[in-house]
Order: sequence, then C-alpha cells, then structure tokens
Amino acid sequence: MSLVPMRILLDHAAENDYGLAAFNVNNMEQIQAIMAAAVATDSPVIIQASRGAREYTNDAYLRNLMLAAAELHPNIPIAMHLDHGNSLATCVSAIENGFTSVMMDGSLEADGKTPASFDYNVDVTRKVVDAAHAKGVTVEGELGCLGGIEDGHGAGLSAEEAMKHLTDPAQAEEFVARTEVDALAVAIGTSHGAYKFTKKPTGDVLVMSVIEEIHRRLPNTHLVMHGSSSVPQELLEIIRQYGGEMKETYGVPVEEIQRGIKNGVRKVNVDTDNRLAITGAIRKVFAEKKGEFDPRKYLGPARDAMKKVCVERMVAFGQAGHAGKIKPVKCSEMVSHSSGLAGQR
Ligand code: G3H
Ligand code: 13P
Ligand code: ZN
Repeated sequence: MSLVPMRILLDHAAENDYGLAAFNVNNMEQIQAIMAAAVATDSPVIIQASRGAREYTNDAYLRNLMLAAAELHPNIPIAMHLDHGNSLATCVSAIENGFTSVMMDGSLEADGKTPASFDYNVDVTRKVVDAAHAKGVTVEGELGCLGGIEDGHGAGLSAEEAMKHLTDPAQAEEFVARTEVDALAVAIGTSHGAYKFTKKPTGDVLVMSVIEEIHRRLPNTHLVMHGSSSVPQELLEIIRQYGGEMKETYGVPVEEIQRGIKNGVRKVNVDTDNRLAITGAIRKVFAEKKGEFDPRKYLGPARDAMKKVCVERMVAFGQAGHAGKIKPVKCSEMVSHSSGLAGQR
C-alpha cells in the first residue's frame, strides 16, 4: 500500500470513535518498532518527523524507510506527517519530499518560539492549506501555545504563562472556518518532553474542559493533543536503576487522553514515552554487559521496548483492529475531496 493522506485515517477514527497515536521517529529502529506494533494490533499508523528529525535523517532516508514500511506491510495504512512545520517553505519542502500530511504550527512565529498573532496564524495556515490541498495532502493547524521547554516548537512558557495561551474556543471556530484545516491542535496545558507536571495533573493544569467546549462548538473537526506522553513511572525507574538521572515528573494520564478521544480528539502525539523506553533499554544493556559493543545488541532491545509502548497506546486509544477496515487512498485521489472538510463532514 502506498502512503496515505492522514485525513482518511482521521475520518475513519471519527466515524468509529477512536484516536490515533502519532509517534515521532528519527531512525530505522523507531519506524520498525511502530510497524511491529501496528502488525501485532492491526492498527493504522501515523508516523511523524519534526524539523529536527528531518535534519538528522535527511528526507531521502526518511522517505525511503517509510516506503519500505509500506512495501513490507501492505495491509497497514500509513500516513507520513510533518510535525510542527514552522513556515510555508518548510511545509512545501515536506510535501515535495513525500510527506502525505503536514502540520503548520502558526501558533508560533517562524523562529518556533515567539507566540504569533491570530491574524499571522490564519494567514500562514491558509497558505499551507491551499498548497497542500492542491496535492491532496492533509493539514494540521495549531491554535494556542504549549507550555514548557523551548525546543524549536515551544515558547518556553512557564506553567502560569501557558494558562494565558490556552486555545480560545470561540477563536477556534473562526480559525477552522477561515483556514479550512483538516485537523486542529489545541493547547490545554500540556508541554513537550518529560517534565510536564510536578504531580499527577488535575483539571486546573490539564484543562480537558477546553477540549470539551471546542468539540461542542466544532463537532466535526478532528482535534489533536500534543505533548501527550504519559511519562510512565516504571520507565523513569528503569532509567534511574541503570545510572540515569530523571527528576520526579508526571505526564498526561492515559485516561485523560481517552476522555479527549470521547470529545473529538483523533490524533495524539507521543514522542517522549518512546524516548524513555529506548533510553532505559540501552542503559540496561550497557550496565549489565559492560563489554558489549555490537549496536544490534542494544538497538534491538531498544526497538522492543518502544514496540511495547506503541502497542499499549494503540490499544488504549482504540485504533487497534482498524487497519484492515480502511480503504487506501492516494494523495492524488484526495485532490477533488480537499477543501473545507474539517468543518463540514
Ligand atoms: O514536538 C516535539 C517532538 O517531541 C519532536 O521533538 O524537535 O526534538 O525532534 P524534536
Ligand atoms: P511528548 O513530548 O509528550 O511525547 O509530545 C510529543 C509531541 O507533541 C510532538 O509534537
Ligand atoms: Zn508537539
């Protein structure tokens, strides 16, 4: 099966009330881990690469690894998504290099750290929608800013400042109407990375009610949760046990994500949990076998550890069991089906 536009996966998820994990990748083992999890659970797949991942891998490697995944697993629909595009040029280069879906994160200016004005966001996102839909490529936009680290797609906002940048539901309605995005990422108090919350989050810091209100106003818009790693305590513990340093921290509980899925969330971004699993597995090998120097002996266990996380999320979000039910569509076949869908399904 060729790579599919993300839109068809989101539509299927909405029609069947489930969510899709979108896992970040930077190398072959991570793609293999996701595909192994997808085969084990019969799950459709969203694989995403950030600007940093594209720089690290090079688009030619990335595209061909993704095409290998599609060739080896013809029964699994796979979308290849750009995570946190920072400009029209970045999104266009991703489309030219085989991505079937792009995120234009116009919540920040092109520097990836300065909160942008609403008008700038609408304008740049609309331009990306026009360019992408002309090729049948899906577009995710973002309104409101995540908190936490300044990582090239985060403003480095403190938890208190982040509360002032949550998505405004009324603005969300206007944003979707004016941009015609396929999916909308919302800010609800989450942040990228391992250090999201200092204790198990409650509704004052993880503001799920914002999602409920946006879903009430935009019942047909596919919503996206970023910064949605759950930061499992057992993964932190493995890293600590084998010599790593992880401070006390808490992520987004899976049950809160499931609540989001009941309220229109169709894409759930997970990167950190896989990074933690990989790091713990590699540290374990290095600690237990000090003479080991064959990369397969530590990258293999790392891949297995990531697969386990992916299986758990695919099952918890409800995408398991759906791969075989989705009729594959190519981007070229989506061109006529393109504009205005997010608000009008
Ligand atoms: O959006 C954040 C993802 O975890 C990607 O992070 O920019 O370090 O690749 P990255
Ligand atoms: P995490 O850091 O919580 O895994 O979030 C990843 C993300 O939102 C990628 O866009
Ligand atoms: Zn993100």
